[in-house]
Amino acid sequence: MNQNVVKTETAKTTTFLEREALAQLHKVLYEFDEPFYKEHVQNPGSMLGLFCNGGTMANVSAMWVARNHQLGPRLDDDGNKIFDGVEFTGIPKALRYYGYDGAIVIGSDLMHYSMNKAADVLGCGLQALVKIPVDTNYRVDLDMMEERILEAKRKRECVVAIVGICGTTETGAIDPLQDMANLAAKYNIHFHVDAAWGGPCMFFFVDIYLFTQFVFHFFNLQLISFVQKKSTQKKVSSLLPTDLNAGVSSKLIL
Ligand SMILES: Cc1ncc(COP(=O)(O)O)c(C=O)c1O
Repeated sequence: MNQNVVKTETAKTTTFLEREALAQLHKVLYEFDEPFYKEHVQNPGSMLGLFCNGGTMANVSAMWVARNHQLGPRLDDDGNKIFDGVEFTGIPKALRYYGYDGAIVIGSDLMHYSMNKAADVLGCGLQALVKIPVDTNYRVDLDMMEERILEAKRKRECVVAIVGICGTTETGAIDPLQDMANLAAKYNIHFHVDAAWGGPCMFFFVDIYLFTQFVFHFFNLQLISFVQKKSTQKKVSSLLPTDLNAGVSSKLIL
């Protein structure tokens, strides 16, 4: 049955179906053009997303990707590897190599506690999770966020990612995602959106039967609670930043 999709050799059918399914979900979110999908969907060198068993795994995986990107391998002008990257060397050596004094993740006070777990398991430490106060609408204060990014520069801290929330657990509030994406682009920082709570509502706006079946299979808990909340009618993908340097975690990372 080729059910074990850990590697192509053991899943010669499902690996490709998985890539196709991820690409279809990617398109719901980002709506890139056909040539983009033709180039990337089945390309082993490309990665459009990852299925996870929950929001915690999605956040941890996204932070892992961000950390490995920010402290990644380096090549010299001739293409020779001069630094192996944090994945190989671990955090202390990587920070030393890049001249940093620590690594932090910046998001709102209302970040889900799975972000604490992410900071912990990735070796950054709980103190590395910087929580910025929210305004009266429970959205992160952008000025304070930018001020903290500048402080990190002064203190030689590596900002692994800034985290926007698409539907905070307690209030359902959505951070100013586009402005945060602009901030991330301005300082060349990875931008992660935690959409574990708000993300599934995008599927209410997709009228493809296949997706509905697929989504109900994977997201039924989230969908049910979302219906109960009777939340926003606005298409969520329009709330998500278009910046390419962004990742979205729902029950999947895209
Ligand atoms: C915003 C947010 N992120 C992450 C999670 C973690 O999701 P899970 O419980 O599926 O690990 C939740 C769970 O409620 C959440 O609301």
